[in-house]
Parts: sequence; structure tokens; C-alpha cells
Amino acid sequence: MIINQNFFNKSRMLPVDKFLENVLYDKKKGYYTSKIPFGYKGDFLTAPGISNLFSEMIGIWLVTTWNTLRKPKEFNIVELGPGNGSLTKILIKLFKRFPEFNKATNIFLYEKSSLLRNLQKKNINHSKVKWTKNFNNIKKGPIIFFGNEFFDSIPIKQFTRKGSLFFEKHYLLNKKNKIDEVYKKASIKDISKIKKFKVLNNLKFIEFPKLGLNELNKITKKISKLSGGLLLIDYGYLNSKNENTLQSLSNHKRNNIFDNLGKADITSLVNFSLLNEYFIKNNLKVKKVVTQKFFLEKMGIIERANHLSQKMSFKEQSNLYLRLKRLLDTKLMGNLFKVIFAYKFKKNNFLGFE
Ligand SMILES: C[S@@+](CC[C@H](N)C(=O)[O-])C[C@H]1O[C@@H](n2cnc3c(N)ncnc32)[C@H](O)[C@@H]1O
Repeated sequence: MIINQNFFNKSRMLPVDKFLENVLYDKKKGYYTSKIPFGYKGDFLTAPGISNLFSEMIGIWLVTTWNTLRKPKEFNIVELGPGNGSLTKILIKLFKRFPEFNKATNIFLYEKSSLLRNLQKKNINHSKVKWTKNFNNIKKGPIIFFGNEFFDSIPIKQFTRKGSLFFEKHYLLNKKNKIDEVYKKASIKDISKIKKFKVLNNLKFIEFPKLGLNELNKITKKISKLSGGLLLIDYGYLNSKNENTLQSLSNHKRNNIFDNLGKADITSLVNFSLLNEYFIKNNLKVKKVVTQKFFLEKMGIIERANHLSQKMSFKEQSNLYLRLKRLLDTKLMGNLFKVIFAYKFKKNNFLGFE
């Protein structure tokens, strides 16, 4: 077991989210700032890397959303956490087929890792795409944010509740350079934030996405100002879990969280009921949370695959359908991945959810 002291502070003890923030996003040694994690040669595959059809469906959803809004002359789309840029790369290609939409649309990318930002610039290399650090360069709306596996990569806090008392989980680097879990009294600020969520009410073990909600605060403020929405696709659950959902992946295999620090990915399952409650509290409307399978099938992914397959060799067809199966199969990504759309528009008829 390799434990890297560099991810701890002088007191050798950190709350879970601060520790994960160092492990994943430290400017020099963080996982996402020092390693390209995507693809067969990396640690994991995400939907845009599995099949271009996934990205095409997101593209078609964006075009139809713009249509539903009666084709605004200026329309902004922001990809959250674009990874290696493969989703936006497909969007650019697809949008050329919709010239009026293409003319109206500004594309922004929101990325924390400078390594990945540079990779995106290299892979996309298109004058239409701009990067944004705080959304300040987006002045006129509407604005649609969207992110695949964005929220799960933002570190969470963990707490236990004993009666009316809350304790926050910390990691302590002990004298043998191994990591122990210790619990310290939670701060009053955090307790009051947790107590605001009905979905966390009766839990003994609580995962709280404080940093993720800070990100959503910036996004919901922008949506409230300009009108717009947020589409999130992620792996997660609807019925409360009373358990630790942190998981680590290295080279496409499960990895002990404390092994390969800075060299392996660490994520948590997203609590979609909490997101739902958060959006409603922030005066956004929310479409019913659906599975990835439901969303993609409603968007016509099977019809698109059937159409494309007509001009393919047998080998290409089997590759196409194998990848489609991975996205849709209920034992693979189909059910575990969920889709939520929160928005501020008078219209309600957005595709993919009914
Ligand atoms: C698991 S990857 C997903 C990449 C891509 N969306 C995909 O589906 O392949 C998470 C991405 O979100 C970025 N990210 C995580 N937290 C972020 C934050 N707070 N602000 C901006 N980007 C963030 C990561 O650097 C990375 O690009």
C-alpha cells in the first residue's frame, strides 16, 4: 500500500472532501491534473468514449430544446467537466447540419484541470468553442448547462448521526503511514445545511456533496438570471443509501481507495433525490429523473443505430451494437446511470423524459 503524505496537511488529518480534493485535483500531483484517465489505455471509459451515438443524442436534445424555446437568436450551451472533449467534438460536427441553430449557439466548456483543458483545446481546436471559469463571459441567455459524469467526480463529505449529534469523517495519516478513519464533531454550519434536506432526514450515514452544491449554486444563479436549464447524467440512485459509496478505479478495475493515490480515480454515487430537492428549493422546475436507457431510447438512439448500420459491414455492425448494449443494458450502464433536467422556462415539453 503506497500512502502519499503529500495529500495531507501538516496536522495529517483532513475531512473526506478536502483529502479527495487533494488526491484528485492538487495542481501538481492530483489525479485529474497529472494523468489522462479516459479510454482503454486509461482507467475508465465514459459514455462519449463508448459510442458517438451518446454524444449525438445529447446534441439532438440540445437542438430540440432550442426549437422548443422558439429558436432564440442567442443560445448558450456549457459543457461541465468535458474530460477529453470528445462529446463537444461530436456536437460541433452535428450542429453543422442545423445551420440556424449553429449560428445562434455559443459553446462554452467549464473545466477545472489545466491538463484536461489543454487536451480539450488540442482535440477540439475550433473557433466556436470558448472556455469559461465562472460563466461571467456569458451575458445573454438562455443558457443550457450539461455534464456527463461531472457531479460524481466532485468530492463529497461524509457524516454519521448518533441521535441528534453529527460527526464528520476525517482521514488521519497515522505514524505507520497508513490511513485511519476518525470522526470529529461536525460544524454547526454543515449540520444546518444537511438538516435542510428532507431526503437526508433519517439517515445514520450521510454523504453530503457540499462542494458539488457550491458548483450548482453558481449554475442555478446563472439560470435564474438568464433563463435556462441543467442536464446532468451520472451514475447514482434515487432511494436513500445509508452507506459509503466512494469507489476507486484503476486500469478498469476496482481499486482500494487508499491504493495508488493520485494515480486512480475516486468517485461517489450521486444522490439524485437530493439533487431533485436542491433544484426545487432553488426555484427550478425538474423533470422526473429517468434512467440513461429511458432517456437515450426516447431520444431515438436505437433508430439512429439501425439507420447507420445499413451501410456498415458485419464487423462494424457488431461493434456498433455491442457499444449500444453497454450504454442501454440494465445490467450495464442502462439503469445505474440516471438523467435529471432542472430548468427555468415556461415551457415543459422537453424530449427524453416522458
Ligand atoms: C469523470 S470526468 C468526465 C469527463 C467527461 N464528461 C466524460 O464523460 O468523459 C469528470 C470531469 O469533470 C471535471 N471536473 C470535476 N470537478 C470539476 C469542477 N469543480 N469544475 C470543473 N470541472 C470539473 C474533471 O476535471 C473531468 O474533466
